[in-house]
Amino acid sequence: MTGDLFDASAIDGAVRVALSEDAVLLRGRALPVAEALLSAIRTVADAAPFRRMVTPGGFQMSVAMTNCGSAGWMTDRKGYRYTADDPQTGAPWPAMPAVFLNLADAAAAEAGFPGFVPDACLINRYEPGARLSLHQDKDERDYAHPIVSVSLGLPATFQFGGPNRADPVAKVPLTHGDVVVWGGAARLHHHGVLTLRNGEHPATGRTRFNLTLRRAM
Ligand code: SIN
Ligand code: FE2
Repeated sequence: MTGDLFDASAIDGAVRVALSEDAVLLRGRALPVAEALLSAIRTVADAAPFRRMVTPGGFQMSVAMTNCGSAGWMTDRKGYRYTADDPQTGAPWPAMPAVFLNLADAAAAEAGFPGFVPDACLINRYEPGARLSLHQDKDERDYAHPIVSVSLGLPATFQFGGPNRADPVAKVPLTHGDVVVWGGAARLHHHGVLTLRNGEHPATGRTRFNLTLRRAM
């Protein structure tokens, strides 16, 4: 993948923005299935409610989270990890909805990573004031698989840096229906989300949802 940041080119009708080698923003890629994604999020959250987890350092996260798939990401005082069961209900995380799997597979293929089959989807819920500090996704077993990240609802500013924490960080505006895919040379790039600004979105109200689809195991 080549191209400068924000040097957008239209390919097959979708607007692609290269963020770095092996990282691309597919603008609006999830719009055709946005309503189906939101309805599936509600079904997942009925079984595995959103909760604000605690970091190993003892801080409560501002972002509320839940999961679906055979593995779910969690954090508590004991550390970051994937579990098969929701510690809050004792039941397995809800199954991954087909609409998540299909979108993840299609977006990953369009980004140059064919055959992506996620087994974990972290669902993040941001309300105004929530933020996610710069981090790497590195709790997964095999970094050969990409990350597919879907934005729904209120707009946010995504930070996308490099392999080292001190690398320059681009600010990327993400809106309803945007999909970011990173893998390969960009798989361990740092990323985060700046404090969500107040607002009202027709599809989600005062909320932003993010789906982070991964192959964890
Ligand atoms: C994450 O890194 O888990 C979430 C990124 C986002 O909310 O866009
Ligand atoms: Fe992440």
